[in-house]
Amino acid sequence: MKIAVLAGDGIGPEIMVEALKVLDALRLPEVTLWQGDVGGIGYHRHGHPLPPETLEMTKAADAVLFGAVGDPTCDTLERHLRPEQAILGLRQALGLFANLRPAQMFAGLEDLSALRPEISRTIDLLIVRELNGDVYFGEKAIRTLDDGRRQGFDFMSYAEDEVRRIAHVAFRAAQGRQKKLTSVDKANVLETSQLWRDVVIEVAKDYPDVQLSHMYVDNAAMQLVRDPGQFDVVVTGNLFGDILSDQASMCVGSIGLLASASLGETQTQFGTKGLYEPIHGSAPDIAGQGKANPMAMILSAAMMLRHSFGREAEAVRIETAVAKALADGIKGADLGGTAGTSQVGDAVVARL
Ligand code: IPM
Ligand code: MG
Repeated sequence: MKIAVLAGDGIGPEIMVEALKVLDALRLPEVTLWQGDVGGIGYHRHGHPLPPETLEMTKAADAVLFGAVGDPTCDTLERHLRPEQAILGLRQALGLFANLRPAQMFAGLEDLSALRPEISRTIDLLIVRELNGDVYFGEKAIRTLDDGRRQGFDFMSYAEDEVRRIAHVAFRAAQGRQKKLTSVDKANVLETSQLWRDVVIEVAKDYPDVQLSHMYVDNAAMQLVRDPGQFDVVVTGNLFGDILSDQASMCVGSIGLLASASLGETQTQFGTKGLYEPIHGSAPDIAGQGKANPMAMILSAAMMLRHSFGREAEAVRIETAVAKALADGIKGADLGGTAGTSQVGDAVVARL
């Protein structure tokens, strides 16, 4: 099992140590770890946020474990040299078009949610975000119009095959859960969304057992805080998924708890090749202080075992250990507690 470990910037290296500690404690046979530079550290050491040697490593690996990228000292660089381009470049180069972002309430954290406990208690949803298209990867620029005014633009588009493949992922995910799928778009205004909706309806014919509904993204943002329990699987485009998944994280209590899997079509001998990362960023303000919560990173490693290595039992062991640690009051600063990064990692290992 060849794993490319890309810790990245800010708190990335600290939380990665804890995820590797947990993996190590499982004593899995035949694990090979490769370490690569990515993000701001990639730029500072190799002149590029996604150095060629790092990209090659991820191509040869069965899975990528990714920490976080983002480095304020790079904010003034040209866009293609900024740390964020590392993750966007990897998603594109590895064809990782399906981003799974589960959000579920952990017992004992109800009071930390931005929502009232009786509402937050009901959260158990999966956001399936398209990751290779949309306004993220369309033509973009800041140009000067004939009259001298500057204009920024980003081209939004989805081709039908792009919608179809993410829709299939979402319908299959729904079949494995509560069989409810909500497709989120802005079809009342955007043609891109109209095509999205039309294609999702076509794909639905293959999944008569799944109950499909459609929701405009503004309404979805409202429903997510009004009654999040109504959602099982949510499928949406790249930009809407980016926004709604951050919102979902605060409904759960902390962005430090949410993991993600980015999957494509490549199959390895064990499962689907993928990239696994917390949905939070590099948090430069607390980097190096040993107080970042590593749980999202640890839960990302669990998702890796599930999707890329077919090790469901070990994935569940990690997830159960994290839930137990939380129930036992092991909480980092993001959850109003005092547990440091390595203390949280140790607590999870002790509960494996
Ligand atoms: C995420 C992040 C990225 C995104 C950034 C870092 C480019 O916000 O994974 O949600 O917008 O996709
Ligand atoms: Mg985001």
